[in-house]
Amino acid sequence: MRVTVIGCGYVGLTTSVTLAYIGHQVHCIDQDENRIRALQKGIVPVHEKGVSELLGEVKDHLTFGDWDSFDQSVDALIIAVGTPGKKNGDADLIYVESVAQELGSRLTGDKLPVIVNKSTVPIGSARRVESVVRYCRKNTGSNAPVMVVSCPEFLREGAALHDSFYPDRIVVGSQHDYAVNILRQVYAPILEQTFNEPGFFPRPDGYTLPAFITTTPTSAELIKYAANTFLAIKISYINEIAGLAERVGADIREVARGIGLDKRIGLPYLNAGVGWGGSCFGKDISALIHIGDQYDFEMLLSSAAINVNRRQRDEIIKKLQSALKVIRGSTIGLLGLSFKPGTDDLRDAPSLTIANRLIELGAHVKAYDPVAAYRIQNNEYGSNIECASDPEMLASGADALVLVTEWSEFMQLPYEQLGKLMRQKVIIDGRNVLDSGALKDAGFVYLGVGIC
Ligand SMILES: NC(=O)c1ccc[n+]([C@@H]2O[C@H](COP(=O)([O-])OP(=O)(O)OC[C@H]3O[C@@H](n4cnc5c(N)ncnc54)[C@H](O)[C@@H]3O)[C@@H](O)[C@H]2O)c1
Repeated sequence: MRVTVIGCGYVGLTTSVTLAYIGHQVHCIDQDENRIRALQKGIVPVHEKGVSELLGEVKDHLTFGDWDSFDQSVDALIIAVGTPGKKNGDADLIYVESVAQELGSRLTGDKLPVIVNKSTVPIGSARRVESVVRYCRKNTGSNAPVMVVSCPEFLREGAALHDSFYPDRIVVGSQHDYAVNILRQVYAPILEQTFNEPGFFPRPDGYTLPAFITTTPTSAELIKYAANTFLAIKISYINEIAGLAERVGADIREVARGIGLDKRIGLPYLNAGVGWGGSCFGKDISALIHIGDQYDFEMLLSSAAINVNRRQRDEIIKKLQSALKVIRGSTIGLLGLSFKPGTDDLRDAPSLTIANRLIELGAHVKAYDPVAAYRIQNNEYGSNIECASDPEMLASGADALVLVTEWSEFMQLPYEQLGKLMRQKVIIDGRNVLDSGALKDAGFVYLGVGIC
């Protein structure tokens, strides 16, 4: 089939590479000329495991271009542009609206491709895109039906290709049988797992075929927000219990295992730590709360999850205050900047909140991250963080280290040697991944989250 993807970001690029790999002819459009030029040369503008490698493999099936390269004779048009949060919590649909207008002015033919909305959008957005496209086409004299499907994306950054090849479910929200059928064909190789597994993404043991769930567009739009909010609430819940565990003398790792082995609860997303962040959770929960407000229905749990998450980041500052007493004039080294391992994404990263708070309190903040530091060096976040080129430079002269992102390499660092470079040997393990015994033996003051 022929598919055009609009937006070459984390989602659009992953979707394009996946669809090309399973045999479709894919064209990916972006308004960012630099991004397109890089991709045409095979350079991937984001850090996501396997994307560069697969891009080379699928080059005969995948092309990139700007809007001038738009071709309306395709089967499906997938919208994967950003939907950042506004100050009031609402999702900003400026990019989706602009894509809808572009499509409306460019879809002049009599047979229209199915328009698929993969961006995370508020309730009613599929209908909104449909009406904008229809309005912009009003002078074509064509009565061809405009079909917009809501097909939310559930991939996780850091495991994006894995999740695209082996999803748990594909949700398709549409009232048009024709459109649902097109999506079923687009996803057929994934639904039936008929493609050859890419070498570095083997099919997980025990993987069962994904469900193809058809819903109304409204349900599909709500499913996405509800899924992300549920996961954020689960993390905030274990973090709240972690706070109590510290006070009563329990170990949150034991508590999490004890409750997570209950199949009704499950172990994933029960790791206590500095809290959730990233491009999606924060803005999606806020958007859900905003939708509730519009219906005069307070989303009590969702709001609580945000408050717990905010407190969780503050807790790191409190731990530093309790260990160092005086923050002003101290040097704090952050291990990790990205909001989670496997990505260079710094959107709503806990590291930035923690760094900015420490800087406000008069500390000098250094950070080491294996892939995301360039975003700070390029001044994308306007933060006053000094980037260290290696863990030794980070530790040198530091009063404390704070592990913020659980990059696997941080578990193997020679902490004993690093400690010798530090002014004070304090380590805050914001993800509970370090060997506390070994660190204490090496003379460190070790503080985890929810651990006494
Ligand atoms: N990143 C994730 O982990 C993830 C997971 C699931 C869902 N989502 C959702 O998917 C959507 C995309 O997220 P992302 O992280 O890939 O965003 P992103 O910011 O990484 O990429 C968006 C891309 O769209 C391009 N773009 C914007 N307006 C355009 C236009 N008018 N024409 C052409 N290109 C345009 C931008 O230049 C950019 O390259 C969002 O709604 C997000 O909430 C993201």
